[in-house]
Amino acid sequence: MTAPITTALSLVDTDPAELAVDAIVIGVHSVADADGDGPPGLAGTLLLASGAESIAAAFDGRLTETLARLGASGAPGEVTKVASLGTVTAPVVAVVGLGPEPAGAAPAPETLRRGAAAAIRALAGNASVAVALPLPDDADAPAALRAVAEGALLGAYKFKGYKTTPPVRGPVSAITVQVPDAGDKAAQDEVARALVVAGVVSLCRDWVNTAPNDLRPPRFADEVASAGRAAGLEVEVLDEEQLKAGGYGGIVAVGQGSSAPPRLVKLTYRPAGDGPRKRVALVGKGITFDTGGVSIKPAQGMWEMKSDMAGAAAVAATLLAVAALAPDVEVSGYLPMAENMPSATSYRPGDVVTMFNGKRVEVLNTDAEGRMILGDAMARACADGCDYLVETSTLTGGQVIALGKRVAGLMGTPELCERIRDVGDAVGEAAWPMPMPDDVRTGMDSDVADISQVNAVMDRAGHMLQGGVFLREFVAEGVPWTHIDIAGPSYHSGEPTGYWTKGGTGVPIRTLLELVDRIAAE
Ligand code: BES
Ligand code: MN
Ligand code: ZN
Repeated sequence: MTAPITTALSLVDTDPAELAVDAIVIGVHSVADADGDGPPGLAGTLLLASGAESIAAAFDGRLTETLARLGASGAPGEVTKVASLGTVTAPVVAVVGLGPEPAGAAPAPETLRRGAAAAIRALAGNASVAVALPLPDDADAPAALRAVAEGALLGAYKFKGYKTTPPVRGPVSAITVQVPDAGDKAAQDEVARALVVAGVVSLCRDWVNTAPNDLRPPRFADEVASAGRAAGLEVEVLDEEQLKAGGYGGIVAVGQGSSAPPRLVKLTYRPAGDGPRKRVALVGKGITFDTGGVSIKPAQGMWEMKSDMAGAAAVAATLLAVAALAPDVEVSGYLPMAENMPSATSYRPGDVVTMFNGKRVEVLNTDAEGRMILGDAMARACADGCDYLVETSTLTGGQVIALGKRVAGLMGTPELCERIRDVGDAVGEAAWPMPMPDDVRTGMDSDVADISQVNAVMDRAGHMLQGGVFLREFVAEGVPWTHIDIAGPSYHSGEPTGYWTKGGTGVPIRTLLELVDRIAAE
């Protein structure tokens, strides 16, 4: 695989005050009103987190007060940098806020993941950084270490971009994480896993952030296919002629308006050995740019539609990680790719398209292109055979209206949706189950075909639900399935926060990986 991260990650169990690094990261908690008898005084508002003991001692117990005078509050994500001036070996101590200390427990993994990322990002320009955050020493230790390692690596993510002069402050290139026992096998395994996960999340982000003139369907397919082959995956690529011959009417219809033809890429991971295994099919939307087509979008913000392939990028990234982590389950990824453009050859409202499973769809809005390419890919996945089908896409603006920028929408069979909600909660990728009411489907009855592409009666009402209800038509009877609408969470437009930089986020890769792990362990 092309290596988008060059950050090194290792473990260390020696005294953080004596580490020869450019900066050391410790944590600080906020304290509300320690004894309930009025304002505690500045220093009383802060409590250094465990892991910081030797640093605190080197500062002769004066670090908390200094931090408070510098404005630190312990709020999550806040980073305060202090010059150590010889008190400890590292020239800089970076103190990251972790919020209030949870009673009798270490901070939640997501707090650590975000904190580690914020600190590493704030230290851009330094080469080597050690991280000494509070880690539990019980059964929760691996999850906490995983969170710190993933967060630190993702905090060092930076899209290379297209600037002719590189920035002076490059991302941190070597990270060491302070643990009780650096030789511990479980801890070493977490480091190895975090490198794989952060590597594929970074690759996914790079694909999403790449300019759309640089990643049209044939190029995207080539990059995914070569990364897949290098990782040892089985790779199948269908070009436009093969898609036409194969009956992929939806992918062909959306792709026909562009001078860069559509593709369908299939990646397969088969575990070593034989014997019956569960088969998981993952499907991701790969619209390399969505103008809306003939039903063209407004110009305002249209450039963000370069991220309309985030689902395909996440599924490809997941397969690459699966190849490296080798779980005992078969996993296939289906990536339909097309560019949705208005032109003399575009598909049009009123067209009737025959999909891969034979169903005929009446097109009403060429901007509802995602469901056209996904219906084909999901039907193909079912024709190949699978025990679970999970599809993810930047499908509707309605998802953002209903659930916001952080929480993905889930539609499908209730049990799998619940399971994905649980998994998302565990990995810090929130998702919430949504209904598929009958009236949404009845309003999609078409006068001329089997189904309309959108609900003409409801118009924009329940847009997210319309997407799920439409996609259900392309899932074979009895297959547990979930559609994850990531229109909001796949792309971060605001200032960097936690491990989210501007642009592609990599959602829902860590959910898909954890789901695959859990299915393998069944
Ligand atoms: N790619 C868009 C959805 C989208 C919107 C993703 C905002 C990310 C941010 C999708 O193809 C689209 O255009 N959906 C339409 C559906 C409608 C035409 C039925 C929408 O959401 O308005
Ligand atoms: Mn669209
Ligand atoms: Zn789209």
